[in-house]
Amino acid sequence: MVIKAQRGTKDVFGDEIKTWQKIEKNAREVFSKACFEEIKTPVFEATELFSRGVGESSDIVNKEMYTFYPKFDSKETITLRPENTAGVVRAYIEHNMTRQSPPQKFFYFGPMFRYERPQAGRQRQFYQVGIEMFGIKEASADAEVILAAVEFLKSLNLNNLKVEINSLGCPKCKDDYRASIKEVLKPYLNELCDECKVRYIKNPLRILDCKNENCKKILESKEIKEVIYKDYICNECKEHFDALKKYLDELNINYCINKLLVRGLDYYSRTVFEIKSDALGSQNAICGGGRYDGLVEMLGGNPTPAVGFAMGVERLYSIIKKEQPSKIDYFIVSNNTKEALKLAQKLRQKGKIVDFDYQNRKFAKQFEKAAKVAKNAIVLGEDEINQEYYSIKDLNSGLQTRVNSIDDLI
Ligand code: HAM
Repeated sequence: MVIKAQRGTKDVFGDEIKTWQKIEKNAREVFSKACFEEIKTPVFEATELFSRGVGESSDIVNKEMYTFYPKFDSKETITLRPENTAGVVRAYIEHNMTRQSPPQKFFYFGPMFRYERPQAGRQRQFYQVGIEMFGIKEASADAEVILAAVEFLKSLNLNNLKVEINSLGCPKCKDDYRASIKEVLKPYLNELCDECKVRYIKNPLRILDCKNENCKKILESKEIKEVIYKDYICNECKEHFDALKKYLDELNINYCINKLLVRGLDYYSRTVFEIKSDALGSQNAICGGGRYDGLVEMLGGNPTPAVGFAMGVERLYSIIKKEQPSKIDYFIVSNNTKEALKLAQKLRQKGKIVDFDYQNRKFAKQFEKAAKVAKNAIVLGEDEINQEYYSIKDLNSGLQTRVNSIDDLI
């Protein structure tokens, strides 16, 4: 039986990989310019990192983790990372980075794993590109992080995406808000969808971004709207949020405030944000992020404010202009594999992209291939080898020239 890729996973190759490479290259360039350094953390971690870090009440921890015993007699389970914030925080604490002077700024690119129902824009293995910034409590860090996301998207010619922001407030504000939401939703408890009935107990704020039409309708009622849209955050949190808004205005970053934006991971406090594209259908978030000032301490480090985001690479891929496959510099047309190999080696050492025929096929066949993949063909027939010259054909104009050395050839 033919073995196929697992449901919700995908092979990336051929023309598609060029666009992926561009996404990764632009991320490196844009984030490095803002002094974020790359960090690579393992794809599996102790399960507890995520159950504590991402939060027991999140969908990710509740139903989406790939958790298993690595050996039949192992005592502890491990989990394939469903996201990378917890892993970066673990590394930050483990390598004593709390002792260094802030900020510490990281970016990453890599696969994440969530056992979700696969659909357009939602996979079980997907890639994220993201950044995490530690040590700065001021809103300037939130602005820096949102700016990095927007500049990266601009570098991919994605200019008209919706930036939505909200402030969940500090843990105290969040608790008060949770209590008011519970109170006002109490009479509607039986009408909520099954998931929201559970959320009502575990994490009532998540009811605010439920996609179920009936739940959405309930949230439209006047008394509930009044609670949602009331300014519930404390003065300090309000000042923080106002400062962020001012920075974004100064940076000409268009944003809107979405009071229903609460995010699905438990670690957020104060700023949360998402960047959305109408081109994406129901899974329309390209980027999600926010501040998580309590997470480092919760995972055993010194109290350290932090903020970051992650973007789904498959979702990015689906909306950006695709890269065209580019032609290689030279295709060597020859019946002498040894000489063709030697010439390829010399040209590659000089930085050129070179291929040749490995099977000594007829010249006509080799020229056919050359015309498809290369800008130039170098003919290396018996005459050329015996008399030590090269014939080079520009495959665009058809012009053929004879040269005596590799330097002349280049
Ligand atoms: P998240 O919202 O769970 O946040 O994921 C971020 C992005 O990853 C989403 O906006 C989406 O583009 C992509 N994504 C998530 N799940 C899938 C999936 N199943 N298939 C395809 N793409 C997906 C986080 O992961 C946080 N760690 C972000 C963060 C970093 N917050 C602070 N720092």
